[in-house]
Amino acid sequence: MVKCLKIPLKRAEIIRKKFDTYITYNYLPEKGKKYIYFALRKIPDKIPKGIEIINKALKKREKKPKNIKDILKNLMNEKELNELVSSFEVLNTIAIIEIPNSLEKYEQQIGNAVMQMHKNIKTVLKKETGMSGKFRIRKVKVITGEKNFVTTYKENSCLFKLDISNMFYSTKLSTDRKRIAEQSGRNENILVPFAGYGPFAITIAKKNPKTKVVGIELNPEAVKYFEENIKLNKLNNCKALLGDASKIVEKYPEFKKWADRIIMPLPKNALDFLPYVLKCAKTGTILHIYAFDSKAGEYLNAQHLNAFDSKEYPFERKIKKVEIIAKKYGFKTKLLNKKLVRPYAPNVFQICLDIQII
Ligand SMILES: C[S@@+](CC[C@H](N)C(=O)[O-])C[C@H]1O[C@@H](n2cnc3c(N)ncnc32)[C@H](O)[C@@H]1O
Repeated sequence: MVKCLKIPLKRAEIIRKKFDTYITYNYLPEKGKKYIYFALRKIPDKIPKGIEIINKALKKREKKPKNIKDILKNLMNEKELNELVSSFEVLNTIAIIEIPNSLEKYEQQIGNAVMQMHKNIKTVLKKETGMSGKFRIRKVKVITGEKNFVTTYKENSCLFKLDISNMFYSTKLSTDRKRIAEQSGRNENILVPFAGYGPFAITIAKKNPKTKVVGIELNPEAVKYFEENIKLNKLNNCKALLGDASKIVEKYPEFKKWADRIIMPLPKNALDFLPYVLKCAKTGTILHIYAFDSKAGEYLNAQHLNAFDSKEYPFERKIKKVEIIAKKYGFKTKLLNKKLVRPYAPNVFQICLDIQII
C-alpha cells in the first residue's frame, strides 16, 4: 500500500501539474472510471477540495536496466562483474558479444540478459575468435535464441543482408563509410577491392547515384550477399565482382587506369596489394588505405598533452611505405588526410590514409 492522491479525472491534469513535486512515478498511476490515483513521495500540507489522500496498492514501475551488468549483478560477484564486457554489437536481430573464459559458465544467463536489454534480438552469438584467415571471418557460437547467422540491418540509410558466420562484418566502420561516401565526387569511377558483402561500395553508390562503383571480393559467399544487397538497395550504379585484388587488371582489363577513387578496406595487409591496385589508378586518383598502426596510440597521447614532435609524426611509417611503393610503380603521392578510425586492440589503432596520386 502507498499513499496516493485520488483526483477526479476531469481535474487530473491541472492537479497533477500542481502537485508534481509531491508525486512519485516509481509507481504506475492507476486510472478508474471517475478517478486517477498518483503515488505520493511526500504528503502535501494542504490539498484542494474534492481531492483525497488514500492508501492504495499501486503497481511498482519496473526499472529499465542500464546495461547487462545491472541485470546480472545478483548472479555474479564483483570480480566477475568487472570481467564482464557490457557492450556488444547489434545487427538488427543478432547480437554478438565477447565473453571471457572465466565467465563461460554464465553464457546462457549473459545471452538472456542481452535479449532482455533489446527486445528485438532473437539470437545472441559469442565471439569464439578474432577476425582471421584470408576472408577475415570470426568464429561465433549461438549462446541464446534461434540458431541463425543471417540478418538484415540498416546502416547509413542502406540495407545490408549478411551471414555473420561466413564473412567479415563491422558496424564500427559505419562512420568512415559515410565519410568516404560524402567525399566521393558525383560522376566518379570508384573501385573497392576487399568489398565484402558491399557496405563501402553500396553506401557510396546509394549516396552518389551518378558514380559507377565496382567492388571486388575473394569470398564467394560474401559476393553472393553483395549481389543481393545491390538489389535490396535498388542500385543500378554498383557491381559486385568475384576475384582477387592482386589480379584485377589481368581478369578485368577494362579497369586499367579506370578509377578516380579506390577504397582499400583490408587493414591487415592492404599495402601488399598496392602495386596491383595501382594499375587501376591514374593522375588524380584518391586512395583510401586502411591499416593497423600501433604508433597511432602515441599520437593520441601526444595530442592530449599538446606536445607531439613532428619528427615522431604518427602514421609516418605507413605514409612513407605508400610513397615508396607508389614511386616504384612510377607514381608520386600527396597525403590529403590521415585519420584514426577506431581502437582495434590494446595500443593498436585502425587508421585510414587518404592519399592522392599526383
Ligand atoms: C576487412 S574485410 C572488409 C570487408 C568490407 N569492405 C567491410 O567493410 O565489411 C576484408 C575483405 O577482403 C577480402 N579479401 C581478402 N583478400 C582478398 C583479395 N586478395 N582480393 C579480394 N578480396 C580479398 C576478405 O574476404 C574480406 O571480405
